[in-house]
Amino acid sequence: MVVTGRPCDGMNILKVGAGMKKECLITGVAGFVGSHLAEALLALNHKVIGVDNFFSGYRENMTSFESHPDFSFHECSVEEPGLLGRIGREHPGIDACFHLAAIVSVPYSVEHEAETMRVNWEATERLLADAEDLGCSRFVFAGSAAEYGEDDRLPLLESYVGQETIHVSPYGRAKHLSTQRVASSPIGVALRFFNIYGPRQDPKSPYSGVISRFIDFALAREPLNIFGDGGQTRDFIYVGDVVSAYLAAAGLGEFEAPLPTGVYNVGTGVGTSILELADAIRDLTGNVLPHRFLPERAGDIRHSLASIEAIQGHSHWSPGVGLREGLRRTIGR
Ligand SMILES: NC(=O)c1ccc[n+]([C@@H]2O[C@H](COP(=O)([O-])OP(=O)(O)OC[C@H]3O[C@@H](n4cnc5c(N)ncnc54)[C@H](O)[C@@H]3O)[C@@H](O)[C@H]2O)c1
Repeated sequence: MVVTGRPCDGMNILKVGAGMKKECLITGVAGFVGSHLAEALLALNHKVIGVDNFFSGYRENMTSFESHPDFSFHECSVEEPGLLGRIGREHPGIDACFHLAAIVSVPYSVEHEAETMRVNWEATERLLADAEDLGCSRFVFAGSAAEYGEDDRLPLLESYVGQETIHVSPYGRAKHLSTQRVASSPIGVALRFFNIYGPRQDPKSPYSGVISRFIDFALAREPLNIFGDGGQTRDFIYVGDVVSAYLAAAGLGEFEAPLPTGVYNVGTGVGTSILELADAIRDLTGNVLPHRFLPERAGDIRHSLASIEAIQGHSHWSPGVGLREGLRRTIGR
């Protein structure tokens, strides 16, 4: 059955069973995570309307679905005033909005504060208001562990972010403001992602994270650069598990009901040291060179670890791909 109308009688949530087609909007669809989400939604038989301006994403990321009959693409910025209203006139049945588009580089955000606040915060606020007006059932926002600042109470609970949190970057501040606004909406779910990795992550991006850089170096038969002693730990989550958290948030696929509105960490709840990670990648790529230890970088957070009790308490979502298997899939791209 195809859903063509809007939820009626002021109901925000349209419960859709397996096999029902929904129209889903993804901003940042040409990015690393957005392209995986689009593939998953199309595979589940939903329609996908993608938005991207290729600021950090690539058309090649959309190769597998660009010509899919249920996919349509709008090359534009999320900063465009009235964007969702315009797209909504063309696609009056949009039910779920997945807002991933953002300036994702923390260093860039420090150098371009005003632009970051416009794209990562002001545009989010506008898109959410438009999604509420359109009668969408869910607006799912991509938050970040950067919202926690330098909090060292581990594992990090959603409630730790507050007025007193010091955000060292405009990126963290904009994500936090957006999360707060989204979580207060009757249709809003903010997923607070920890370190995502997987195929198609751009190793050249300063934000892409240590895994894609290590893999790039290991495959080029170069030593892996470790800053400090390698004892820093991170919560690495495979992109496929992030996609299933998105499905849980909107009540799609195997998830029969959407997550209640609010904020949810998305990580594995397992910390991995940079040294363990480097050893695993060296092992999986057959790179025999010893690591290269460099001076610690100023401003690096020592440990980061998610509490995932909230999302697990409200859904049967669970991270299913262990680090070694995730690395194997990433290296095999
Ligand atoms: N990758 C991670 O580890 C991680 C961790 C926490 C949060 N996040 C968040 O998840 C989301 C997706 O991240 P990603 O890793 O896929 O990054 P990405 O850079 O691959 O994707 C972001 C996409 O947004 C697009 N974009 C940027 N500005 C835009 C604009 N003004 N209008 C339209 N499109 C625009 C980019 O072109 C890109 O395709 C981001 O919001 C990011 O902050 C990612």
